Amino acid sequence: MATDAMPRFPDGFLWGVSTSAHQIEGAADLREPSVWDAFTAEPGRVKDGSTAAVACDHYHRYREDVALLAGLGVDAYRFSVSWPRVNSPGGLDFYDRLVDELCAAGVRPVPTLFHWDLPADLDWLERDTAYRFAEYVSAVVRRLGDRVGTWLTLNEPAEHTLLGHALGTHAPGRELLFDALPAAHHQLLAHGLAVRALRAAGAGDIGIANSHGPTWPASDDPADREAAEFYDVLLNRLFADPLLLGRYPDGVGELMPGDVDADLKVIAEPLDRYGVNYYAPARVGAPRGAESEWGGVRLPAGLPFSVRPIEDRPLTDFGWPVVPEGLTELLTGFRDRYGDRLPPVVITENGCSYEGLDDQDRIAYLDAHVRALHRAVEAGVDVRGYFVWSLLDNFEWAEGYARRFGLVHVDFATRTRTPKASYRWYRDLLRAQR
Ligand code: BGC
Repeated sequence: MATDAMPRFPDGFLWGVSTSAHQIEGAADLREPSVWDAFTAEPGRVKDGSTAAVACDHYHRYREDVALLAGLGVDAYRFSVSWPRVNSPGGLDFYDRLVDELCAAGVRPVPTLFHWDLPADLDWLERDTAYRFAEYVSAVVRRLGDRVGTWLTLNEPAEHTLLGHALGTHAPGRELLFDALPAAHHQLLAHGLAVRALRAAGAGDIGIANSHGPTWPASDDPADREAAEFYDVLLNRLFADPLLLGRYPDGVGELMPGDVDADLKVIAEPLDRYGVNYYAPARVGAPRGAESEWGGVRLPAGLPFSVRPIEDRPLTDFGWPVVPEGLTELLTGFRDRYGDRLPPVVITENGCSYEGLDDQDRIAYLDAHVRALHRAVEAGVDVRGYFVWSLLDNFEWAEGYARRFGLVHVDFATRTRTPKASYRWYRDLLRAQR
């Protein structure tokens, strides 16, 4: 970790932490099932065989968790609203209580309206799901809009499409490869309809949380460059271009269902902020006729690219390379690509999986990434906030409880919370920024 003082961020910069409903809430008996409940119930889907039925039991312990947020001194808390819970009797009451508790603690609530836990009877391959999403969003904003000023529509439609619908390693477990693209289009349409619903209800500060990372060609060989370009379209531009430019990258729109031009007008509704989840870059080369690996996920041999290891870098316990300068590169690259069309950026997730309470590796990771973010600010990128993933160790999707991303340790036998060294480091960083 660098020992020189952390540079100051602009006044009004928003410091926070993120979580998501399915990963922390538990209380699965008090909500309708989601696609994740069905997926988790299938043997072999989740590596440690666990479920999120109880998770961190945040549903019952939210007061304790808000006290942890207050102790940390964050300005804002990004959580997600569970659509299956809102569909259940009393479901919205929970978010009502949570928002009240946050406001009383002086922490700004920043809800994400969809973080992968689709109601089990819905399907992103169906266009109608986008309209159902807008109805659900209207119900949420009607109830919480008097106290919530900042809204995020979707979390990472790229991962939800790729892992859930193309590769089948996440719920709903489909392996459609490129036939998964309609799921991406319908999520983007859902986003645009939700923006309209939020604006109709008077909401002023609206964004989305997309995952992005620089794509590095494995070599200068034209075949590697072409493969990297393809990957960049798939993971970065497929989701950012329609939102920010009102069009799909060349060749993609033709693969989407419905009246794409009309839908793009909805998808490109102006945003107040653009959320970026950053974890690591990808090194990508031409296909090699064999499986490759992407962040612990097996990629089939038949894809038009192969993901290569990033060498000479420390790895997190998840095996992800630690590349802080990738965040600077990503943000300056986005500014260059999208120019005035890029709204102010907020880093809606950044974090790492490491074991232990004295988590010096996490401190080093976060310290280096916050500095890298500051370099983007110095380079003129309009960045307004930074949220650590995550407040709590939680249900890490197909990895179960085996990956610990929290600033706060959770003992999954007793649900006891214990702040880690990184919690104190972040608290001190925020104090020094005030
Ligand atoms: C997701 C989180 C997840 C984190 C770490 C992000 O892709 O939004 O839900 O826990 O990465 O894998």
